[in-house]
Amino acid sequence: MQLTDTVSTGVNKRSLEESRAYLRRSEGLIPCHTQTLSKGPTQFVQGYSPIYLARGEGSHVFDVDGNEYIDYPLALGPITLGHNYPAVTEAIIRQVKDGITFSLIHPLEVELAEELREVIPCCEAVRYSKTGSEVTSAAVRIARAHTGRNIVASQGYHGWHEWFATTTERRDGIPEVMNELIKTFEYNDIESLKRIFEKYPDDVACVIMEPVCVEEPRGNFLEEVREICNHYKSVLIFDEIVTGFRMALGGAQEYYGVIPDMATFGKGMANGMPLSVVVGKWEVMKAAERAFFSTTFGGEAVSMAACKATIREMKEKNVIDHLWNVGGRLQSEYNRLAEKYNIPSRCIGLAPHTAFAFQDDDGEVSYPLKSLFLRETIKRGILFSGVQNVSFSHTDGDLDYTIKAIEESFEFISEILKLGKLDEEIGDKVVWPVFRNL
Ligand SMILES: Cc1ncc(COP(=O)(O)O)c(C=O)c1O
Repeated sequence: MQLTDTVSTGVNKRSLEESRAYLRRSEGLIPCHTQTLSKGPTQFVQGYSPIYLARGEGSHVFDVDGNEYIDYPLALGPITLGHNYPAVTEAIIRQVKDGITFSLIHPLEVELAEELREVIPCCEAVRYSKTGSEVTSAAVRIARAHTGRNIVASQGYHGWHEWFATTTERRDGIPEVMNELIKTFEYNDIESLKRIFEKYPDDVACVIMEPVCVEEPRGNFLEEVREICNHYKSVLIFDEIVTGFRMALGGAQEYYGVIPDMATFGKGMANGMPLSVVVGKWEVMKAAERAFFSTTFGGEAVSMAACKATIREMKEKNVIDHLWNVGGRLQSEYNRLAEKYNIPSRCIGLAPHTAFAFQDDDGEVSYPLKSLFLRETIKRGILFSGVQNVSFSHTDGDLDYTIKAIEESFEFISEILKLGKLDEEIGDKVVWPVFRNL
């Protein structure tokens, strides 16, 4: 372990030469340099942040130059247990030796579906895929097939496929016509959903939403969404790609006790292996016997073996409690220190999945302030992106170290703010929004 006992001794000691060399090789070869926009160079402070990570162990990661960091984005959520987590790594190796993917169905498809039925409240039936985008698209198609209706009412983020991406800022390459079939509503604004149903009472196939993101449901918001869907006979889909295996094993539907007709899970299911599912009531899911949903790697066995091992560990070790405890400590200490040093920033959201919100004088998101914070913390060996997904491998020692790094960073930033020199200090090294306001 290279991280030093005294946080500040690690400052400015790192070489990032290998990262820079890979970036040069990727120029003109890989558009955006990355397969995941939130992992790309625009999201981290260049000159200070590593660009390529080579290895992970527990809650720590190592860049291509051999530098070590405590990891908080955790690959944007998939690493629920920790990098190279022994029970999952062993399950993966065992399955690889037996074979990865086959010409007929593998028994794990049945075994894991039975386990998911035990764990996820709305789950009577299961179909597998690889990514969140694929299963949210499948869920919408199945809901349309079940209802014979076209319109989708949507809140939150659901991936890069056309039916949803048409609502985002990144619409290049998506025919305008796609926009006619999706209507968006606001979280915690039940009237905005009612308006969609009043305008299209017989045409809304489904409501697809993130049951919670960084804002908690107010009053009976989720229950009211459930009632509206019942009233209009529309399918309620909870997108639990982030919340599943994190808020609770069975997701936000278990945590809040509001049961949708269908749900999508991905990210944290298999501790980093690519696996996602669309699950739901048989009455609705049986439409998947007619609707087209078929993909070569859908039944790939290694990810399923990893998922089984992940579920076992999460149940036996009470992983969810750990995520709440560690995430809760990070959140409360961050907020205490932000107040102490007068930093216009708060850690918002629910403890297992939080976001740092940075504000300027007008109450708008301050990317310069966020950038300065990311710069100061990465210098101290903490890999933050602004969205934290703590893991079972984060220890009290990691948290002690991280909190010290946050305090040192805030102390420095507060001086800069007092001098009114934020823009001067960060210069052009400002991170960009991908398009999503968290
Ligand atoms: C709530 C939610 N749904 C769907 C997706 C899309 O998942 P993927 O990136 O695996 O396609 C994401 C990804 O961040 C997500 O956060």
